[in-house]
Amino acid sequence: MANKRKIIMDCDPGIDDAVALCLAAAHPEAFELLGITTVAGNQTIEKVTENALRLTDFYGLDVPVARGAKTPILRPPVTASDIHGKNGIGDAEIPASERQAVPETAVLFMKKLFDGLGEGEKITLIPTGPLTNVALLFDVFPEVKEKVEEIILMGGAASGGNVTPAAEFNIYEDPEAAAIVFDSGIPVVMCGLDATHLCGISWENAAALRENGGRIARAVGEMVSFYLKSPAYKNRKAACIHDAVTFMYLLHPEIFKGVKMPVTVDCSDGIMRGNTLCDMRGFVPEEGLQVTVLMDADGDKFQEYLLEAVRSLDGSLRGR
Ligand code: RIB
Ligand code: CA
Repeated sequence: MANKRKIIMDCDPGIDDAVALCLAAAHPEAFELLGITTVAGNQTIEKVTENALRLTDFYGLDVPVARGAKTPILRPPVTASDIHGKNGIGDAEIPASERQAVPETAVLFMKKLFDGLGEGEKITLIPTGPLTNVALLFDVFPEVKEKVEEIILMGGAASGGNVTPAAEFNIYEDPEAAAIVFDSGIPVVMCGLDATHLCGISWENAAALRENGGRIARAVGEMVSFYLKSPAYKNRKAACIHDAVTFMYLLHPEIFKGVKMPVTVDCSDGIMRGNTLCDMRGFVPEEGLQVTVLMDADGDKFQEYLLEAVRSLDGSLRGR
């Protein structure tokens, strides 16, 4: 890749967050991970922060971790223990980290990273959990927006939902935060369920990773196998690795189909809470089209590239 992208990943690990981070760690030629910030979502802020520290060590990433919001902006938190397990990463045994989170909260830590940019430099934000930290960052420090290259987020759907028939989990958890981010005027790529439902790892490949791989492959295989046994994937052939679509889009945009359109978030308390209303009518004036919604993906290519990344990270860390 011509030049590396400076990245902040805001996440709630989370099995698919953990696999997304593995994909990023396998591509140091493409990504300069400046920092990881955590947000309550799949599990509590304590657990997702502990997981982020353990996973960065486990993947050989010397990347600081900052603890973020423990609840959505207005609403009580909802975790997903049934899907991601009690520890949040499929109860996989990842060695404890010697490190602590940095003293700053996520918002202050992100502001510090933006302040440290050189002339003309920008950061790409990759949120893979509820958008609370990103929304608070834009509200408290609106000046950082001009230094955001783009936001590649996992969340939403042009049609359907997972946590309810109308809403995807990350948006449902904090719809007000999502509305702030979608309305920020910054280019957003929405990696929603329309594409992420096509992007997964199969039972067979999860078993192959578990049974004949290095430590990274075994851990990823274990986490994905837990995912496959969860209520979300009963009778499904593959587990959707939703969050990995963000980094995969930057590595292989050619395997996705994106359509630019306005997106409005439903912040009501009714049955449509957290719905991302995607306006596909096509006659909205250009300035209203700052969201690229991924509407299709080549799931075979996604799985091939993801498995390749897991094994290559194992290779590069062999002996470490
Ligand atoms: O709906 C899927 C999203 O919710 C993923 O980010 C998963 O990790 C959960 O946070
Ligand atoms: Ca997530």
